[in-house]
Amino acid sequence: MPLIQRLHRFIAACVVCTLGSAAPAAWATDDGAKLYAHHCAACHGSRGTGGVGVPLALPDFLAAADDNFLRKTIRLGRPGRVMPAFRQLSDAEVDTLIRYIRGWAPTGTSKAAIEKSSIKGNVERGGKLYARYCAACHGAHGEGGHGTGVTFSRPRDLPVLAPALNNPGLLAAASDATIKTTLMRGRRGTPMPSFLKLGLKEQDIDDLVVYVRAFKPETLPDPVQSMADEPPVIERASPYDMDKTVERLKEAIGAANMRLIRTESFDRTFSEDSRENKRHVVVDSCDFDFLNQALKIDPRVGLFLPCRFTLSERDGKVSVSTINPKRLSAIFNNSELNQLCDKMHKVYVDILEEATF
Ligand code: HEC
Ligand code: HEC
Repeated sequence: MPLIQRLHRFIAACVVCTLGSAAPAAWATDDGAKLYAHHCAACHGSRGTGGVGVPLALPDFLAAADDNFLRKTIRLGRPGRVMPAFRQLSDAEVDTLIRYIRGWAPTGTSKAAIEKSSIKGNVERGGKLYARYCAACHGAHGEGGHGTGVTFSRPRDLPVLAPALNNPGLLAAASDATIKTTLMRGRRGTPMPSFLKLGLKEQDIDDLVVYVRAFKPETLPDPVQSMADEPPVIERASPYDMDKTVERLKEAIGAANMRLIRTESFDRTFSEDSRENKRHVVVDSCDFDFLNQALKIDPRVGLFLPCRFTLSERDGKVSVSTINPKRLSAIFNNSELNQLCDKMHKVYVDILEEATF
């Protein structure tokens, strides 16, 4: 399927999963498959094989993740890393989801035991081992690989990106035993190797667990907070007529190093007796470097693809508007993307002001 088509499908699914979260108690049904399809499948794949989200059906994952880990991960999400926090689900719904996900474990495997006692190790030795064996994938400070999950900008069978280990959601959800099992077994089907197989001793692994445990969770701005005051669109009134505004807008787009894609004009007389003659012009443009950079982080940036400026003329007055990229931050839960949205917001405002100056 071409990239654009895949994006549109994904976005449709995602809008359902974001907006759907406000749906009434119709989902309070004891049906894990439905809950999963509604809230998780768009990212983790309908069979748990992964997508934008990491795979959940892997035997090695299910062997390491106890129910408490799954419960907390669903409730807390991974702030800053796309995985949403599902606070709106009832406890019964979360339990139903967990049972459903557990159903993917190969038959005969017992579920991961919760080990209460914490693991003892040498944090300094753990740090040295971390720099040598883990930092290349998980980042020097546990900040994770660039982007999250499996990105659309590369073939779907290519490796899963390494999650952030200094993430407050992960550190709150994972017991020492979960981290240890992950290091011992690895996650077959992803780039995460088994360090026991790579020749580390159990004590080395314990040192690593203690080191990961000591990561300071990064503090992130609340994306919902930061967009509370943001209007959904950015709009500027133009002192010029329609043709002149379109011309100035195109120049401003060029000056911002964006490529023009097309200009479309709609002339409509709305009703017989109203004299009102509304005119709209839509100008689509794109900054391909920027777009590719953003798509690598999260394909949902396709929501503002391409960059669309709408010019409206009403009673002889022209205005130019575009969607406000900052409003999109709320659905991303990804600090990297929020920065991109801020940057994009600035570019849009500059273009609108230049065109209507
Ligand atoms: C918008 C996309 C998205 C949705 C929707 C989503 N997830 Fe995730 N999920 C992710 C991503 C991305 C990660 C990996 C986080 C990282 O890279 O740091 C993740 C991680 C996880 C993990 C941790 C996996 C591991 O290897 O430790 C679990 C468990 C999980 N998700 C379960 C769920 C469940 C259950 C649902 C539905 C209730 C859900 N997710 C909905 C994107 C999503
Ligand atoms: C070649 C790259 C690579 C290396 C090296 C690597 N990891 Fe991973 N790691 C990954 C990937 C990819 C995942 C996600 C697997 C998945 O989808 O479940 C992962 C998952 C994890 C998880 C589970 C995180 C979660 O969200 O559940 C932990 C903990 C972890 N790694 C720790 C380590 C430590 C500690 C080291 C060094 C001893 C290490 N990793 C080395 C790629 C790597």
